[in-house]
Amino acid sequence: MRVACGKSNAKIILMGEHSVVYGKSAIALPFFNAEVSVKIEETDKGIEIISEYYQGQLDQAPEILEGVQALIKNILNKLDINYNGLKITLNSKIPAQRGFGSSAAVSVALTKAFFKFANEELRLDNLKELVGNAEKIHHENPSGLDVATIISKQAIYFIKNKKSEKVDFNLDLDLIVGDTGIPASTKTAVQIVSQQEHKKELIQVLGSLSDHVLKNIENKDSIAMGNNMTAAHEALKELGVSTEKLNTLVNTALNSGALGAKLSGGGLGGCMIALSEKNKTESIVEALKLAGANTTWILDLKEI
Ligand code: MEV
Repeated sequence: MRVACGKSNAKIILMGEHSVVYGKSAIALPFFNAEVSVKIEETDKGIEIISEYYQGQLDQAPEILEGVQALIKNILNKLDINYNGLKITLNSKIPAQRGFGSSAAVSVALTKAFFKFANEELRLDNLKELVGNAEKIHHENPSGLDVATIISKQAIYFIKNKKSEKVDFNLDLDLIVGDTGIPASTKTAVQIVSQQEHKKELIQVLGSLSDHVLKNIENKDSIAMGNNMTAAHEALKELGVSTEKLNTLVNTALNSGALGAKLSGGGLGGCMIALSEKNKTESIVEALKLAGANTTWILDLKEI
């Protein structure tokens, strides 16, 4: 019986969520603290999916697995696989719908596993196309930032269809990630932004702030970097994608000494991030937990 596995990591957006959809720059980091793995085993029972949400035949899977369903069909059209049945087990430690790019990560792991199963070389352009098409099911107009960050496995400065360049952080700072524990739909958030009255000005502001942060990283100007992150949170709030809990966690981090804080990802729930000097990290994390953060993670920006 043939067996193959594929793995992927998650991502965190530092700057530029939403404005990246409109062609402005963004900065994002791979997030290795949470991973997804996919195992494909040959069986004789049709195509079965085993996941947190559903266990059963692929063609009867619920809407939440629509992207996975479409991706598997696309892959099977591309690859020449002989099978009577396949058992596909998705094991994701990436909290879903929290801004970690879990859907893109699942798609990457799934595609890698299928190509290994078929003993076919997986070219980067094939991976991008297959995962990109699956992402379009989750929201109509994805920027491609999630896929680019997850695949590149390094921090990137990204402009839709134009640029994906490595960013060297090398900063003696921590990035704290706080999960509100509230799942949110990127599709809904993107729709809210598309209807926002002052969208054009706010997108412009977010794009400039992202470019400023790139300079701040290069110049190791952590104070300006923090201030620009907090300014981005204000613009995202005005765009209508923040929530009371996100604002509480952002304010808690700032009041506990963070250099800057903002929501990260689509918003409407999901995660926030805070930039912290090493000696402040512990107390900020404690304060976030007390203020209701579901889970927190610490990324060392020296190691990115
Ligand atoms: C979602 O992780 C990031 C958004 O900017 C959407 C996108 O880039 O496609 C909200």
